[in-house]
Amino acid sequence: MTDLNLEHWWQPFTNVRAFQKNPRIFTRAEGSFLFREDGGDVLDITAGLWCCNIGHARKEVADAVHAQLMELDYAPPFQFGTPPAFQFASRLMEHTPEGINRIFFTNSGSEAVDTALKIAHLYQFARGKGSKTRFISREQGYHGVNVGGTSMQGLPTNRHGFPVLNEVDFLPGMLDISRNAFSRGCPEHGTERMAEAFEHIVALRGADSICAVIIEPISGAGGMVPPPRGYLQKVRELCDKHDILLIFDEVITGFGRTGSAFAATEFGVTPDIMTSAKAINGGTVPMGGVFVKDSIQQTIFDHTPETVPEFFHGNTYAGTPVAAAAGLAALDIYESEGLFTCASGAKGEHWANTLHAMKDLPSVIDIRNYGLLGAVSFDPGEAPAKSLGPKIHQRCYENGLLCRAVGDHMVMSPPLSITESEIGLFAERFRKSVLEVLG
Ligand SMILES: Cc1ncc(COP(=O)(O)O)c(C=O)c1O
Repeated sequence: MTDLNLEHWWQPFTNVRAFQKNPRIFTRAEGSFLFREDGGDVLDITAGLWCCNIGHARKEVADAVHAQLMELDYAPPFQFGTPPAFQFASRLMEHTPEGINRIFFTNSGSEAVDTALKIAHLYQFARGKGSKTRFISREQGYHGVNVGGTSMQGLPTNRHGFPVLNEVDFLPGMLDISRNAFSRGCPEHGTERMAEAFEHIVALRGADSICAVIIEPISGAGGMVPPPRGYLQKVRELCDKHDILLIFDEVITGFGRTGSAFAATEFGVTPDIMTSAKAINGGTVPMGGVFVKDSIQQTIFDHTPETVPEFFHGNTYAGTPVAAAAGLAALDIYESEGLFTCASGAKGEHWANTLHAMKDLPSVIDIRNYGLLGAVSFDPGEAPAKSLGPKIHQRCYENGLLCRAVGDHMVMSPPLSITESEIGLFAERFRKSVLEVLG
């Protein structure tokens, strides 16, 4: 039991009363491991919250942050600039899809999402299409917690009780275990269903009323669901057909998760706007960003008098020199260690094989993978749905493994720097935990 006072910090997305009875405190991290208060190691198969892609406690990043703090800790980003922010922005463009060469920095994925929605709106207004105000999102989608993102949420618990914008329609969720169970990579079924729903929404609302579609290329918090084959290409095609912007929420899929720097590149589909955060600097200093097509920025600039800001929007900590310095150091690691592409090479293959070898575990009804992402779904059976996941999650933690429970889906996103033997340790601890709960 901890001797910390647990009363004062109201933790996010936490059952606080349960936590206070059974606190789980980490005190240290290194490489692919977190360390509990009792000293026990916990293999971090979630890369924190999908963010520590370069592994924990990288000295290069720590040194860069320290040096930057001593050189220039902060300067206001409104009407001023700093070298690290401009340098980081330029370096990032070496990895973005063609035509996307602008970034608007934020502090988080949630802010990136709301910023993206505002840019999309402003763009439509600037080009004389002010009637295009509606959005299309997707069931099971997660887009952060600000009011815009909450309105785009396809996860019911994250919407109920909160203020939301009403001008949103939802495509069907991509998880279809009845038809796609145990697919490796992109499953077969679902593109046609999405296209029908898309056309239905357009027919109902009118293309002239729709501003943008926002989707995660791979559904993350909704249970790690890769897109069916041809799905993203079809969404792009339909957006073009109806003159609707396409926003990829790459907060999870960015920075090497899929086997390319961004899922947009991985799937060969260029969105108009791309949100990002988390792994942008290895999860070390809060930072997010909205990547925008040059042409979208230009349209907004052309519409705005030269005497005023083109975008009345921004955060105090947008692109701070410290976050950008962390980003530059993280980028050096991503590039020099080949982390943007390792998920599509031998490591990704080994990960997929290890994951699919769990098929013989009791009550497993589906296993999914893409890049260095994975999910194992359990049949809730007679028990109320969503009761197994938390039990397996707790047993994993006790056995030295951090994975994530989304209902009865156990979801994984290891650091990209994970080794083969650590993937073996994951399999060992996961198997043991599941058997202890269900065996
Ligand atoms: C797809 C997606 N968008 C947005 C967010 C919100 O990011 P943040 O928690 O940094 O606000 C998340 C967080 O998990 C996410 O997965």
